[in-house]
Amino acid sequence: TNNGIPREEGLDHTLPLLKEGYEFIMNRKRNFNSNIFETRIMGKKSICMSGRDAAQVFYDTDLFQREGAAPNRLVQTLFGENGVQTLDGEVHRHRKEMHMSIMSEDNLKKFTEIAVQYWEKALDQWSKKYEIVLYDEVKELLCKVACTWAGVLVDEEEVKWLTKELSETFEGAGSVGPTHWKGRNAQNQLEKWMMELVHKIRDGRLIPPEDTALHKYTWHKDLNGNLLDKNIVVVELLNVYRPIIAISVYINFIALALIEHPDEVEKLKNADEKYTYMFIDEVRRFYPFFPFIAAKVKDDFTWRDYKVQKGSLAFLDIYGTNHDENLWLYPEEFNPNRFADQGNDRFSFIPQGGGEYLTGHRCAGEQLTIEMMKVSLDYLVNHMVYEVPEQDLTFEMNEFPSIPRSRIILRNVERKL
Ligand code: HEM
Repeated sequence: TNNGIPREEGLDHTLPLLKEGYEFIMNRKRNFNSNIFETRIMGKKSICMSGRDAAQVFYDTDLFQREGAAPNRLVQTLFGENGVQTLDGEVHRHRKEMHMSIMSEDNLKKFTEIAVQYWEKALDQWSKKYEIVLYDEVKELLCKVACTWAGVLVDEEEVKWLTKELSETFEGAGSVGPTHWKGRNAQNQLEKWMMELVHKIRDGRLIPPEDTALHKYTWHKDLNGNLLDKNIVVVELLNVYRPIIAISVYINFIALALIEHPDEVEKLKNADEKYTYMFIDEVRRFYPFFPFIAAKVKDDFTWRDYKVQKGSLAFLDIYGTNHDENLWLYPEEFNPNRFADQGNDRFSFIPQGGGEYLTGHRCAGEQLTIEMMKVSLDYLVNHMVYEVPEQDLTFEMNEFPSIPRSRIILRNVERKL
């Protein structure tokens, strides 16, 4: 190596990345015994970073930028063009303030109230069925919650359509070939649907309540005092709807954790709020969801003895940092108690990104995700009984997102009296 950074030999390592998935960076970090190494992904020189200190550097906005970092295929399905994920500096901060403006305590409370309503309705429906596929049911439930909370109700039929399209955008995000194209197509359909709403609101034909995303984003003004381009409004609204549906992945993992650790069910029945949050954090730490995030090096800099070059593509290892032996005792064990005395470190526990919300790219919906998981956990543990028939509960380390094969089948669901 000429820059001090361990380098993986070979022309390209995209195939091993697809094969090893969430563990790609972790495996190499072990082999090189280094939290930073260089490889080639999709023909490009790429720096992979893992661990707490690497995360702290990665979130230093003097050193890293997001513009020009996200691969096009992700921009076209998962992000949308010119969305907050691709912005830097003042423009990013202003846009991020818009996203955080719907996450006030009051608005989150409203969100959980809506979530409870739809869990109640869903439970009534499920009790009438022999069995349900939890993942599919919860996605639809979340879609109703998202629509209601965002400010415009849609009818049953539209919910089904919307759920399907929104899922295809994130279910196709890590894929190549037909699944990727399905995701692209879904993104286009969704943009059309959302554009209709934005037009109606701007024309005064539709008036969503003031504290909703639809109202706030449609009437948001950029740093120059102009209304946002309507294409950007559409992209940012989908940045709210899409990830809310994606919480279904975590809710499925909650159900899996309850199946795999029956002792936890007993603990949770009598748990205080603190243990409930510890359990939720352990689900977010333990199970795979986001593999890594990409950024571009803004200027040459030296980290420890490594010289990092301007323009390099860098990946921060999300999954591997949450499973780092230096940060977590027995990281491959599911154990909520590890969070009992865990401080609030912004760089070692990063399932939804690290650092700060406003000045950095940390997930705008993190608190909302946690609250939705809390409501769902409460229903699964305290408000319903069900059987778990034999099924394939395995999940793959190289699928994005990774979801238990069976999508979790529950049988004879009944309300707990
Ligand atoms: C960004 C994960 C749910 C809105 C992110 C990032 C991750 C993430 C890893 C990137 C952090 C970075 O680039 O440094 C997740 C996971 C979720 C989730 C695992 C669980 C389903 C949500 C929800 C919302 C949301 C429910 C909104 C309602 C956003 C936005 C960004 C973001 C707007 C971009 C922030 C920025 O670039 O400044 N999320 N997220 N996410 N998330 Fe989430």
